[in-house]
Amino acid sequence: MHKILVTGGAGYIGSHTVVELINSGFEPIIVDNYSNSNPLVIQNLEKLCNRSITHYEADCNDEKVLSEIFNEHNISGVIHFAAYKAVGESVSEPLKYYENNIGSLITLLKVMNRFDVSTIVFSSSCTVYGQPDQLPVSENAVIRPANSPYGYTKQVSETILQDCVHANPKFRTVLLRYFNPIGAHPSSLIGELPIGIPNNLVPFITQTGAGWRNELTIFGDDYNTSDGTCIRDYIHVIDLAKAHVKAFEWLEKNTDSIGVFNIGTGNGSSVLQTIQAFEKVSGIKLAYKIGNRREGDVEQIWASNDKAVNELNWKAIYSLEDAMDHAWKWQLKLGEKQP
Ligand code: NAD
Ligand code: WQD
Repeated sequence: MHKILVTGGAGYIGSHTVVELINSGFEPIIVDNYSNSNPLVIQNLEKLCNRSITHYEADCNDEKVLSEIFNEHNISGVIHFAAYKAVGESVSEPLKYYENNIGSLITLLKVMNRFDVSTIVFSSSCTVYGQPDQLPVSENAVIRPANSPYGYTKQVSETILQDCVHANPKFRTVLLRYFNPIGAHPSSLIGELPIGIPNNLVPFITQTGAGWRNELTIFGDDYNTSDGTCIRDYIHVIDLAKAHVKAFEWLEKNTDSIGVFNIGTGNGSSVLQTIQAFEKVSGIKLAYKIGNRREGDVEQIWASNDKAVNELNWKAIYSLEDAMDHAWKWQLKLGEKQP
């Protein structure tokens, strides 16, 4: 059984991916420092998968501890989720982001080299594109200067991985450029757990629906889109999780050293459409107001996912309404009072 080291495996996307890895016969080994997650996630994962899951509370910047973990397990591949992801915070605290997001990748790659582990799937982001000229955006679109330190860490990480491929003929990587992951596992055992006020739209919607927040502010309705609000490609987190399993299957079958794939549904939805989907599945009229544009927001972006569909043999199954339904059930499970 292939052992896959999953850094950030207690996080939102990592935890859903652990479930899909187990469902597909892989053996995940979780490494997480719980800087943006909770150890209880591991318990819920074990309940959901009905088995124990190997996990370590460790920091990916800690070369010694990572080496001990590689020494203990015969690891055949790595998925590197561990990173900080708050765009606004990255603007005010850039060094925190460069240190954690780039530092942890470099440390991990050094340890992988030492233990002769040569395959890694990396969590990249559609943020690398900024506002593309052409929509849907494909993988060969121009990569423009990043508009946040967070976005820059993803661009630099992609370059680091490409350089490792060029330097070492055995080294192979898949860069998955995620669009906007939303939703939760339908069991409501795992889901998104934002700490404090959510930055992202969907947790803000569900928390407002649950009464944790008074109202949602829509960041601008004067964009050049059909209803004036921004457009994104919202993808169910389970569909996204499954793409990681497909990435390992691709690495097994393919001889290419590097694969770059957009992971999105291929459809764009506006902020208002997303709210409408929530209202439909929850039966709740959401309290919202129109506010100013948020600095740095791109107007509209959605993925061309042809490459993932054709080469990874992957496709998104869940609809926006499915994802909102699962996100809402997860929110209800969290209870009435904000933790
Ligand atoms: P998350 O914060 O829920 O998960 C990240 C996990 O990594 C957390 O459990 C955190 O505790 C852990 N972590 C952070 N730094 C660590 C370190 N140095 N050592 C060990 N563990 C560490 O975030 P997520 O939404 O699951 O995102 C996972 C990855 O996907 C990130 O790399 C993120 O940048 C990327 N991504 C996320 C989105 C999104 O909208 N959620 C979109 C595109 C890309
Ligand atoms: C979606 C839409 C907002 C909150 C961010 C990162 C990106 C990627 C995904 C990691 C936008 C609007 C939001 C609110 C609103 N992450 N909105 N009111 O901006 O596409 O991307 O997460 O790589 O890098 O930048 O996602 O969920 O923040 O916003 O009107 O309270 O909802 O303006 O149009 P975004 P988001």
